[in-house]
Amino acid sequence: MKKIALITGASSGMGREFTRVIASKGKNLDEIWIVARRGRRLESIKETFGSKIIPIEADLTENSGFDVIEEKLTQEQPDIRILVNSAGMGVIGRFEELSIAENINMVKLNDVALTKITYMALPFMGRGAHIINMASGAAFLPQPKFAVYAASKSYVLSFSRALKEELKNEGICVTAVCPGPVKTEFFGIAEKHTHVAFYKKLVMASPSKVVARALADASASRELSVYGISMKLARVICKVLPHSLLIKLMNMFGK
Ligand SMILES: NC(=O)c1ccc[n+]([C@@H]2O[C@H](COP(=O)([O-])OP(=O)(O)OC[C@H]3O[C@@H](n4cnc5c(N)ncnc54)[C@H](OP(=O)(O)O)[C@@H]3O)[C@@H](O)[C@H]2O)c1
Repeated sequence: MKKIALITGASSGMGREFTRVIASKGKNLDEIWIVARRGRRLESIKETFGSKIIPIEADLTENSGFDVIEEKLTQEQPDIRILVNSAGMGVIGRFEELSIAENINMVKLNDVALTKITYMALPFMGRGAHIINMASGAAFLPQPKFAVYAASKSYVLSFSRALKEELKNEGICVTAVCPGPVKTEFFGIAEKHTHVAFYKKLVMASPSKVVARALADASASRELSVYGISMKLARVICKVLPHSLLIKLMNMFGK
């Protein structure tokens, strides 16, 4: 039975970085299946990171996208050692300013797709396997002008923590990754209507640091991975101060 990693959102940003690191360190893996819509990008990642990489072109907001992955899983019956759910998107702006498609797509990709992929992958996972789910620091607090995105990431965090407990006896570990702003293509889409707040630009992390932290936390079987002092501090603040006050402050300083 071939041992594999399955990584969604691998064509850019943190998914690409997970692919790079797992390809260089995962000597025990036979293949690394990488999923995204931009097939050419996936092919060039295979050229760069090696022949173990298996590109799977799939849109995870469409049923046909899941069919491709399900068929491959059924055919090959792999042993999934690592699942990384990194496909995700966010659009900044007032709920009504965004189109209904933009609002719904955040839920479809960040929540429905992550849930479906996890459900499809679990029968192929066993003791010692890891699930790494990309949540966000936005999961810690409701965010006006990023309302659906923040809610979608709260779902990922809550789901991941509960699933970790459910899978404890099977020896499968689940880690939710909650970074603050990270320098990736994410903001190309996110800033379509409204720019990100200046204070978020000041604390942008590099994808390599966030991913290194996430993999270290997953290896240590931690339920949460929070990179950087500013986000660790933000998490504590969100725990101790009333959310109504923090939401008012966020509104004052912009998104
Ligand atoms: N960057 C940040 O500041 C930040 C902070 C906290 C959390 N996050 C989360 O971290 C994860 C990775 O984000 P990133 O910063 O690396 O963003 P990114 O560079 O924009 O990468 C997003 C990935 O998702 C894929 N994707 C988008 N729509 C898709 C669809 N319909 N079907 C399949 N794949 C799709 C994209 O590939 P294709 O376009 O080729 O399909 C791309 O590979 C996301 O879940 C994001 O919400 C990001």
